[in-house]
Amino acid sequence: MLYGRGAETERIDRLLAQAVGGRSGVLVLRGPAGIGKSALLAHAERQAAAMGVRTLRGVGIESETELVFAALHLLLRTGLDRLDRLPAPQAGALAGAFGLAPATAADRFLVGLGALTLLAELAGDGPLLCLVDDAQWLDRSSADALLFAARRLEAEGIVLILAVRDGSHGFRPAGLPELRLGGLGPQDAARLLGETAGPLAPHVRDRVLAESEGNPLALIELPSALTPEQRAGQVTPLAHQLGPLPLTGRMQEAFQAQIHGLPEAARTLLLVAAAESTGDLAVILAAAQRLGAGAEAVEPGEHGGLVHVVGGELAFRHPLIRAAAYQGAPFTRRLAAHRALAAVLADAAKSDGRHADARAWHRAAACTEPDESVAAELERAAERARRRSGHAATTAAYQRAAQLTPEPCDQVRRLVSAAEAAMDAGQLLQSRALADRAAVLTEDRRERARIAGVRAAIEFEQGSPRVAHGILIAAAGPIADEDPDRAASMLLEAVRDAWFAGAPEPARQAVERLHALGLPPGHHLQSAVSALTGLADLLAGDPARGLVPIHAALADARHAEPGGPGQQLIMASMAFMVGDDEIGLDLATRLTDDCRAQGLVGWLPHALQNLASIQLYLGRFQDARACADEAVRIAGDIGQHHRLDHLQGVLAWLAAVRGDERTCTELVGRVHAHATGHDNVSSLAWTLWARALLAMGQGRMEAALEELTAGLAGATRHQLTTTLTVPDLVEAAVRCERADRAEAPLARFEEWATATGQPWARAVTLRCKALVAGSDEDTEARYAEAVGLHLNGGRPFEEGRTRLLFGEWLRRSRRKAEARVQLRQALDTFDRAGALPWAERARAELRATGEASAMGRAAGAASLLTAQELQIVRLAAQGGTNRDIGARLFLSPRTVGYHLHKAFPKLGVASRAELARLDLGT
Ligand SMILES: Nc1ncnc2c1ncn2[C@@H]1O[C@H](COP(=O)(O)OP(=O)(O)O)[C@@H](O)[C@H]1O
Ligand SMILES: [Mg+2]
Repeated sequence: MLYGRGAETERIDRLLAQAVGGRSGVLVLRGPAGIGKSALLAHAERQAAAMGVRTLRGVGIESETELVFAALHLLLRTGLDRLDRLPAPQAGALAGAFGLAPATAADRFLVGLGALTLLAELAGDGPLLCLVDDAQWLDRSSADALLFAARRLEAEGIVLILAVRDGSHGFRPAGLPELRLGGLGPQDAARLLGETAGPLAPHVRDRVLAESEGNPLALIELPSALTPEQRAGQVTPLAHQLGPLPLTGRMQEAFQAQIHGLPEAARTLLLVAAAESTGDLAVILAAAQRLGAGAEAVEPGEHGGLVHVVGGELAFRHPLIRAAAYQGAPFTRRLAAHRALAAVLADAAKSDGRHADARAWHRAAACTEPDESVAAELERAAERARRRSGHAATTAAYQRAAQLTPEPCDQVRRLVSAAEAAMDAGQLLQSRALADRAAVLTEDRRERARIAGVRAAIEFEQGSPRVAHGILIAAAGPIADEDPDRAASMLLEAVRDAWFAGAPEPARQAVERLHALGLPPGHHLQSAVSALTGLADLLAGDPARGLVPIHAALADARHAEPGGPGQQLIMASMAFMVGDDEIGLDLATRLTDDCRAQGLVGWLPHALQNLASIQLYLGRFQDARACADEAVRIAGDIGQHHRLDHLQGVLAWLAAVRGDERTCTELVGRVHAHATGHDNVSSLAWTLWARALLAMGQGRMEAALEELTAGLAGATRHQLTTTLTVPDLVEAAVRCERADRAEAPLARFEEWATATGQPWARAVTLRCKALVAGSDEDTEARYAEAVGLHLNGGRPFEEGRTRLLFGEWLRRSRRKAEARVQLRQALDTFDRAGALPWAERARAELRATGEASAMGRAAGAASLLTAQELQIVRLAAQGGTNRDIGARLFLSPRTVGYHLHKAFPKLGVASRAELARLDLGT
C-alpha cells in the first residue's frame, strides 16, 4: 500500500494510458534515498501488468559505474534477438557495445539511436514500459545512450521512467519532464508508521515522525533500530542517532546497526555481495567461501529482510543496505573481499570481456600502492572499452590505471589517454583536469603535443578559439621534426581557430609555420594546406590573392577521394569562400550523408550547419531551417555550445527573412548571451546580419545601416558573412540617402565578387552600382546586365531583390509595363521562399504600377508543414520507408509514421503514393 502518492500514481497511470494509445512519454522521478522512488516504479510495473503492457527493467549500481554499457545491456537484453531488424550500423553499434560482436569504433550516439530503434521495434508488439532505477549510478555510456533515445521518443507507445537519487551525482537529464518526490504529509506518515512500527509510546512516536521528515524508509527503519526500552519511552529514544548526520546517514547507520548484529559469516557474505556489482550468486558464494563463509551465510540477511535471492541473483532490498554493508566493514576486510572476487573472476576472465573488466577493477580496488601489473590490466580494460565506444569507461579505466602506475612516463601516457577519452565522451571539464594533471608531470614533446590537442579542442568548443590557436601554435613547433604530420594537423586547426576568431595575424603566423614544415608534394594534407593558406589571405582582406589557392584546392577535392569528416568539412566551407554553391551543395550533401550512414553523430551538427548555409544561399529557406533545426537538437544533446551559437545565428537570419521578429530577436539574444564571451565572432556576424535584415523588412533602413556599418568595423569585419552583408548595406544606405556610406563597402564586395568569378556575385555587384549611382545613363544597362547574369542560376533570393529594385526603378521612370514584368517575377520568388516582407514590398510596387490583383501565388502546400514534417515528407516522396527515414533523421520509424500521418491531411493526400505528385517546393 502506497500512502500519499495519489498525484504521482495518477501521472504514471496517465502515461501508461497514453502509451496504449500509441504515444510515448518520459518521466524522471527525483528525490532522496528512501523517499519511495522504487516503490513508485513497482506501482508502474503492477499497473502496466494490469493493462497488458510489458515491462523492461534496468538499474544503475553504485560500484558498476565504470563498466561500459552495463545498465543499457540489462535493460535491453531480452530484446537482443531482434537486433537483425535494425539498420546495419545501429545493430553493429549495439552488438559491439554489448560485447556480442567484435566492436567497431562507432560513434557514441549511434548506440543511443540503436537503443531507440530497438525499443521501437519491441513496442511494435504492443506498448512497453521501461523502468530504470537508481539512474544516478548508470554507467556514463548507458546514460548517454539512454538519454539520446529518451529525447527522441514520440510515437512508439513507450513509457520510460527513470528514478534518480538526489545528491552530488552527475546525472542531470536536462530537458526531460521531472517529478520531485517530497516527504509524506503528517497524516500519511503517521499511518505508515502505525502500520509498520508496532507499539510505540506516544512521545516516541512523535519523535520518530519528526526525525523521519516524512521519508518512508526512515519511518520503517528508524523504529526497527529501537530497543524495547526505547519503544516504551523509558530511555531517550533515538539518542544515538541525533547529531549532524543527515537523514540518509542516519538511515544508513540504522542499517549498519542491524548488520553488526549478524553472525560474522553473514556479515562477510553481505560485504562480498556489496563489493560485487552484478548480483551473480555463484560468484558471490565462491568469493565468500574463500573468506570462510559458506552458502548458509545468506540466510540471516534474508531473514532480516536485508537481501533477497531470486533465481541465481542476490539483491539488496535497498541501496542504503549495500552502502551500509560495504562502508561499515573495516578497510582490510573490504580489500580482502575485492581480492577474493578478483580471484574468482580470474578463471571466467579468459572467455569473457565483461568478467575481465570486473576482475581488473576488483584488483585495482584491492591495491593500496602502485602496481604495474594491475595498471596494465586496467589499461587493457580501457582499450576494450574504447573499442566499444564506451569513452567514459575508457576514461575511468585509464585514470585509475594512471593512479596505480609506478613509472612517471607510463603514468603520463595513461593520463593523457584518459583526457582524450573524456573529450570523446563530451566530458570536457574532466578532460581538461586530466590534461592539466598530465601537463605538470611531463616535458616530453610528444605527450605535450597530445595534451595541447586536448586543451585546444576544449578551448575551441567552450572557451575562445583565439586561445585555442595559441595553444596549438606553441605545441606544434617542438614536434615539427619528429612528427610533421601531427604538427601539420595542429597548425591547420590553428588556422581554422584564427578564422573563427576573426584574427588575421594569428592565421598568417600559423600558415607560415605550416609552410616551414615543408610537407612533400602529394602529401595527403597538401590541399588542406593550400586552401587554408588562401583562407588566411582572405581573412587579411585580400580576396584576389586568397581565392586562387582555394579554387585550386576545390578543383582537386572534386576528383580526390574524400578524406575524413574533418577534411571534408574544411572543403565544404571553402566552397562558401568562393561563392560556388554547386560544389558547396555537392560537398555538404555528401558529408551529411556520410555522417548519417556511418552514424557520426558528433560530426553531424557541423555537417548540417554547412548544408543549411548552402541551402540558405540557394534560397531553399525551408530546407535550411529543417537542417538547422535538426542540428540544433543534436548539438544541444551533446553539448556543442559553439555549434549551437552558429546554428542559432543561421536560424535567426531565416526568421528575419520571414519577417518573424519574435523568433529572430529571441535567437539573437541567445547567441549574444553565449557567443560574446567566447570570441565566437562568426556566430555574431550571422546575428548582426539577421537583425539588419529584420530591420530592412520592417522598413527601418537607418537601423539596418547602422547595424551593418558596425559589422564592417567591429570584430566581425573579417568574416565572409560580413562581406555578404554589403549588398544589404548598400541598399539601406541609398534608401537613407547616404550613398557615400556605401562606397568603401561596395569596393570590398566587388573585389571579392570578382575574385570568385561567380555570375551571381557579378550580378549583385552591378545591382549595387546601379543603386549607388542613382539614376544615370548607365543605370538601366547595369540592371539589365544583372538580370541577365542571374539567369545563369545561383542565388534566387538575390535575383528577386535585383528584379524588385529594377522594377521599382522602372516604375519611377514611368515604364509601368516593363516594371510589372520584373515585379511579378520578384513576387513569385519571394512567395516561394516565404520571404514575407519582401513579397509585401513587391506586391505594393505592383499595385502602384496599376496591377489590380497582385495577390501572388497561394502559399505552397509545403508551407503548411513544420520543418520536421517537411523533411520527412520529402524523403517519403522520394520513396524512403519509415525505417530509412528514421535512420537518417535519428527518429524511430514509428515516430516517422506518426509525422507522416499528421502531414497527410495538411497536404490533402491519403497515402504516401500520392506524395510524389505534390510540389513540395524547395
Ligand atoms: N508512499 C509510500 N507508502 C508506504 N510505503 C512506502 C511509500 N513509499 C515508499 N515506501 C516504502 O519505503 C521503503 C523505501 O522506499 P523506496 O521506494 O525503496 O525508496 P527509494 O527508492 O526512493 O530509495 C520501501 O520499503 C517502500 O516500500
Ligand atoms: Mg530505490
